[in-house]
Amino acid sequence: MQAIDLLLQRRSAKTLTEPGPDEGALELLLASAARAPDHGRLRPWRFVVIRGAARERFGAMLAAQLQRARPQSSPEALERERLKAFRSPLIIVVAAVRDARASVPMIEQVLCAGAAAQNILLAARALGFNGVWKTGAAAYDETVKRELGFEPADALVGFLYLGTETDAPPESGAQAHWREHVTYLGE
Ligand SMILES: Cc1cc2nc3c(=O)[nH]c(=O)nc-3n(C[C@H](O)[C@H](O)[C@H](O)COP(=O)(O)O)c2cc1C
Repeated sequence: MQAIDLLLQRRSAKTLTEPGPDEGALELLLASAARAPDHGRLRPWRFVVIRGAARERFGAMLAAQLQRARPQSSPEALERERLKAFRSPLIIVVAAVRDARASVPMIEQVLCAGAAAQNILLAARALGFNGVWKTGAAAYDETVKRELGFEPADALVGFLYLGTETDAPPESGAQAHWREHVTYLGE
C-alpha cells in the first residue's frame, strides 16, 4: 500500500483479535514511534508493552481504578472494565515523561509522545494490523501511573490496543469534512 493511501484510509479498529504483532513487528512499531518529531531531542516518550498473561494484571488495574473512582460500581461493571485488557492481543501504553527544566514547553513534550503514538498506529496498519487509541479515567489515575512505572507528574497519553481487525467498520464519512476546518490565510 502506498503511504498516502494508508494515511487517507486510516481509521480505528472496532474489534481486534489474534494474531497480534510478533516480536519483529513489535520492534518495527517501537522503532517507528521513535521517529516522531521531537523538539529538543528530549525523547519524552516511554512505552510499556502488555501482552499475553500480563493483560490479567492490566485488567486488574483497570477494574481497581473503577472501584476506587466509583465504589458503588456493580460487579458486572467491574468485570466489563477488567475485560477491556483483553480487547486485543497487544497493548502499548504510551507515556510522556516530561522534563520541567527543559526549554521545550511541557505541552510540546506531550505532543511529541502523542506523535509517537500515532506513528505506532500507522506502522501497525502498514504491517497489516490495526489498532485503536484509548484513554479513559485510568490514564489520569495516579495509582495506575505508578503501577505502570510512572510518576503522577508523567502523562499517560494513550493505551494503544493492537491486533488483527475482525470486522472493518463502515466508513464514518468524517474525512469528507476536512475542508471545513481549514483557513487559507490571506485569500
Ligand atoms: C488522546 C486520545 C484519547 C482517546 N480516548 C478514547 C477513549 O478513551 N475511548 C474511545 O472510545 N475513543 C477514544 N479516542 C478516539 C478513538 O481513538 C478514535 O480516534 C475515534 O473513535 C474516532 O475513530 P477513527 O479513529 O476511526 O476516526 C481517543 C483518541 C485520542 C487521540
